[in-house]
Amino acid sequence: MSRQKLKKFAENQARTNVIQPGKELFNQIKGGWNELYFKNTAPLILELGCGRGEYTVGMACLNPENNYVGVDIKGDRIWKGSKTAEHEGLSNVAFLRTQVQSLDNFFAPDEADEIWLTFPDPRPKKRDIKRRMTHPRFMDIYRRLLKSGGKLHLKTDNDQLFQYTLEIVLEMTGVRALTATDNLYQSRLMDPVLEIRTHYEVLFAKQGFSIKYLSFEFE
Ligand SMILES: C[S@@+](CC[C@H](N)C(=O)[O-])C[C@H]1O[C@@H](n2cnc3c(N)ncnc32)[C@H](O)[C@@H]1O
Repeated sequence: MSRQKLKKFAENQARTNVIQPGKELFNQIKGGWNELYFKNTAPLILELGCGRGEYTVGMACLNPENNYVGVDIKGDRIWKGSKTAEHEGLSNVAFLRTQVQSLDNFFAPDEADEIWLTFPDPRPKKRDIKRRMTHPRFMDIYRRLLKSGGKLHLKTDNDQLFQYTLEIVLEMTGVRALTATDNLYQSRLMDPVLEIRTHYEVLFAKQGFSIKYLSFEFE
């Protein structure tokens, strides 16, 4: 590991808003986010594959009445979001370092109110379909963690991932209130949360890609 990464890992260890291997809460937090970490009963909203955490931090600033957890496997990316949250004095933000595939170890059934997938890796190769964050095996995890009526949002620049996800959702049972647009900023859906731009959104928008968005609720 590079010296820079080791430094960030050590800083993550010292920050209370980062929950990662080696910390007590990492093994205790399942089912206890509001009681053990946030110490309130506010709605719990997750951003999966949060990268530098722009969406997590942005939503937390816009909606201080909710709690937000950004999840990513990369510690140096989480480091950035956690630093910003600390700097902004946001007590309604945490970051969890883990694989999305392991979320059942960190969230109890029905513990979350909303999930955001922001610019997940498109995984275009056929052999990687099972690794797409909207593959049915991931959807099954999201359904377990979300309360009844819980909402899932996807923002992406990638046509193939967008179409693939739409097909998956249309085939799923127990889904309602599906909304989808292949050009978010030309649509009527806009609100301040949808206007938050992540690092990857800015990169893709500069390359001229339109931003696609879909959301739905699990019954
Ligand atoms: C293309 S980046 C998008 C980051 C951020 N959401 C954005 O829009 O700028 C995808 C992120 O997902 C994370 N990631 C990919 N697969 C993951 C997995 N299985 N579990 C947790 N994080 C994952 C990567 O580490 C990376 O930070």
